[in-house]
Amino acid sequence: MTFHATIVTLFPEMFPGSLGGSLTGKALDDGKWQLDTVQIRNYALDKHHTVDDTPYGGGAGMVMKADVVDRALVAAQEKGLPDRKMIYLSPRGRPFCQAMAHDYAQTSGLILLCGRYEGVDHRVIEDWSMEEVSIGDYVLTGGELPAQILLDATVRLLPDVLGNKNSLENESFELGILEYPQYTKPQNWKNKIVPGVLLSGDHQKIAEWRQEEAERITRERRPDLWQAFLKTRT
Ligand code: ADE
Repeated sequence: MTFHATIVTLFPEMFPGSLGGSLTGKALDDGKWQLDTVQIRNYALDKHHTVDDTPYGGGAGMVMKADVVDRALVAAQEKGLPDRKMIYLSPRGRPFCQAMAHDYAQTSGLILLCGRYEGVDHRVIEDWSMEEVSIGDYVLTGGELPAQILLDATVRLLPDVLGNKNSLENESFELGILEYPQYTKPQNWKNKIVPGVLLSGDHQKIAEWRQEEAERITRERRPDLWQAFLKTRT
């Protein structure tokens, strides 16, 4: 069975979106993973196809209705294996990270619920024991872009999706630090010269230089990652 993602959304036309291009799009065409959508509005039973209502307790905006979203989630479950993890994209969720992408890539797939407006009635999130995931500390207009970001990071870790598995090894976050800087031809560009060690042919020296650069950049830019990295070394 290949990895199977089902997106539950009011905007299915936003998919595959960026997932249809580049590596993830090729892998999708090659059947290395599967993507489908459920249109939440199809599960609104009244004649106006109402999907949202005003929040209890007052306040701005509209809340997506529990009964409508619940029926859409049942439909999503019926599209694939019953053991797929269910995720609700929300700025209130657990911050997404590379380790989570690795975990998701080990599963049979995901059901991703995208909220709009002020979000989804909280009871439906609890009732389905959904994991709430955020892609960062900012608010987007809906969960569709976050779902694409989460899937992009996950799908590229599936077996046979990245052409060259070695390209993962030195990537940012894989070793707990940011990646070293890269250079290609020409050697002299606008009088900026490629660091000499990279032309030396001395693989040991090159590896050392890259490690030092990766550590320096992490220390300067991400003191939080640096402190965590130091802990893993002691
Ligand atoms: N929906 C709106 N903003 C979001 C965010 N930062 N992460 C996940 N889902 C969202």
